[in-house]
Amino acid sequence: MSLNNNLSKILIIDFGSQFTQLIARRIRELGVFSEIVSHKKVNEKNIIKQNIKGIIMSGGPLNVYESNKFNFNKKILQLNIPVLGICFGHQILSKELGGKVKTSNHREFGLVEIKKISNSLLTKNFFDKKNKNNVWMSHADQVSKMPKNFKVVALSKNSKLTIIENHNKKFYGVQFHPEVTHTNKGKVLLRNFLFSICKIKRNWTLKDQKLKLIKEIKEQVGKNKVICGLSGGVDSSVVAQLLNKAIGKNLTCIFVNNGLLRKNEVSEVLNTFKKKLKINLIYVNAEKEFIKKLKNISDPEKKRKIIGNLFIKIFERYAHKIKNVKFLAQGTLYPDLIESKSVTGSQTSKIKSHHNVGGLPKRMKLKLVEPLKFLFKDEVRKLGLELNLSKNIISRHPFPGPGLAIRIPGIVTDKKIKILKEADYYFINELRKLNLYDKIWQAYAALLPVKTVGVMGDNRTYEHICLLRAITSEDGMTADFFNFDKKFMQTISNKIINNIRGINRVVYDITSKPPSTIELE
Ligand code: XMP
Repeated sequence: MSLNNNLSKILIIDFGSQFTQLIARRIRELGVFSEIVSHKKVNEKNIIKQNIKGIIMSGGPLNVYESNKFNFNKKILQLNIPVLGICFGHQILSKELGGKVKTSNHREFGLVEIKKISNSLLTKNFFDKKNKNNVWMSHADQVSKMPKNFKVVALSKNSKLTIIENHNKKFYGVQFHPEVTHTNKGKVLLRNFLFSICKIKRNWTLKDQKLKLIKEIKEQVGKNKVICGLSGGVDSSVVAQLLNKAIGKNLTCIFVNNGLLRKNEVSEVLNTFKKKLKINLIYVNAEKEFIKKLKNISDPEKKRKIIGNLFIKIFERYAHKIKNVKFLAQGTLYPDLIESKSVTGSQTSKIKSHHNVGGLPKRMKLKLVEPLKFLFKDEVRKLGLELNLSKNIISRHPFPGPGLAIRIPGIVTDKKIKILKEADYYFINELRKLNLYDKIWQAYAALLPVKTVGVMGDNRTYEHICLLRAITSEDGMTADFFNFDKKFMQTISNKIINNIRGINRVVYDITSKPPSTIELE
């Protein structure tokens, strides 16, 4: 394992940008180890002790002249280590080396065309044949005077110093964000910085990532006991397996069946985690308790709260039975952290009370173990495969905490759940059969609280409507409906109506998000 302290790495100095973790992610994708350190903690003595081949200074919400609000240790610029400043990092690098930064009259937000002025190692293969490229900007201030011995590599209409460099010292500044996907060929620029300028070698694989996380879990929890709420979804499954590898029998997973899971889900989870992976697992069948609490409740928010609270109550009931538990493991991902903290500090409007195990720790006084909190969903999926979890578990579509209850608008009954489980099963199976499942970000069936008239075998029917939803998305924040062909629509509609009693009409949801949300409630 290559996890020694002397592993060569890229140091990312974080000035509070919402994209700092994206920089780390891109570097991981390029097969290189990096470490993020807050600007408050950067110390040149510490840097010398490590094998740091390059420094990237992130963007951030501050102004370079508010020096009381951030810390920048200028000595790190005298260590002969290549430096790349991004956005705010570009501005602070310029200012510290004798340049000037001012508030721009023409702020640049979103896609901006930039033009090459001179060659640079940093921008090899970055510009098109016309020496132009589209990059993603987000800044109000800009560098107005370059430091001595710098040259301009590229400019935009509104900022003359978009890319600058001091080739001899290996200092580079870019006003835009190469780490976001909107910047065309942003990764090419980062690759040039890593391999042509810092001359670092590839040293980071998924296996290294896995071993590092296992090592960190061991260090954090020692010989203490950990509990983990297992839902069978991708994130909690990967967390459970990571902890299983790290601490084995000191992990206990609690799997609460709220009766709102998909068909066969309970047996699949028990089979994988208890039988195959031999994880300590407490299975709680709480179907009756949930359905009782949901009786006659039709308000979406009330449903969500009831399910969330009962989940916590049951989880606590069983967690208390395990002696000496000190930690609670959760599958928090990096996007969850960004969404739960408002980056700008402004209040965001509450659309739905999302439910996961998040409410537990304060009351239970447990410390959190969140090994995935700096990873993105697709990275977690790859990590799951590296941990020998089956592709079936890893590629599952997201499933909400309140489960099928929010796919049955209105009052939830045993009968409706049963009908819905079957409809969903037919839909998902058909998607798998036609190799569509992995092309779709999330798909499900819902049961609408409306009955309509139909005719089957010369008889009048009066049954529920089944709504099918299938969307494409990158992160669930925005979504578009998936375009099925007519044949698929016909097949699935027939299968559902012919096989499931209680449904006589199938409709397809063709709204995007926004204005709709992915779930119905
Ligand atoms: P919406 O409906 O808000 O859904 O567009 C976005 C994504 O979040 C999932 N979702 C939830 N996940 N607990 C969860 O863990 C919840 O309460 C919850 N509500 C929605 C939804 O399935 C979609 O993937």
